[in-house]
Amino acid sequence: MADRSEGGNMTGSYVIEQMISAKAIAARIEALARDIESRFADTDKLVVVGLLRGSFVFIADLVRELDLPVEVDFLEASSYGNAMESSREVRILKDLRGEIAGRDVLVVEDIVDTGHTLHHVTGLLRSRAPARLETIALLDKPTRREVEVRATWTGFEIPDAFVVGYGIDYAQRNRNLPYIGSVRLEGDT
Ligand code: IMP
Repeated sequence: MADRSEGGNMTGSYVIEQMISAKAIAARIEALARDIESRFADTDKLVVVGLLRGSFVFIADLVRELDLPVEVDFLEASSYGNAMESSREVRILKDLRGEIAGRDVLVVEDIVDTGHTLHHVTGLLRSRAPARLETIALLDKPTRREVEVRATWTGFEIPDAFVVGYGIDYAQRNRNLPYIGSVRLEGDT
């Protein structure tokens, strides 16, 4: 597997350098799944809520590792446009299909960056009175935090870099890379 690939979009060309391999992601998900299974060992059904779109690959791999009765639902919140900047306003673009009152819920996020998205979404879902609500993020950039929030489980802490792959995009591209890579704009050093 190449550890560098090239991309280009409206904003110019860039190179992607591998940061976390597909193998490392798979191993980490196995370990995380064991932790989630023990936390929810007594659940009658766990509602796994994927935050669209960045978590779609992660949630697919995670639920297949979980030896628990699960239901899958999705919620879409906006925080990024087609730029490398986070907007402060979080809007719900697509709400859950199912009810979560009295249910066990696991929110699955791709990256916790400023924290606004996870903070907003967990606040909203808690107001619906789930029995238990926990959160998992594949990646965490703690140095970027603007609101204090932390996922119950984190796959990998990463530095302040813009990343793509494994479901995560740069202007809707590169979601299909099997690994996590960091984006370096051509011309940057
Ligand atoms: P937050 O609200 O700032 O924590 O942003 C969370 C969302 O921003 C994530 O779910 C991603 O969709 C997006 N995001 C944050 N960092 C990156 C990145 O490095 N690459 C692509 N998307 C990112």
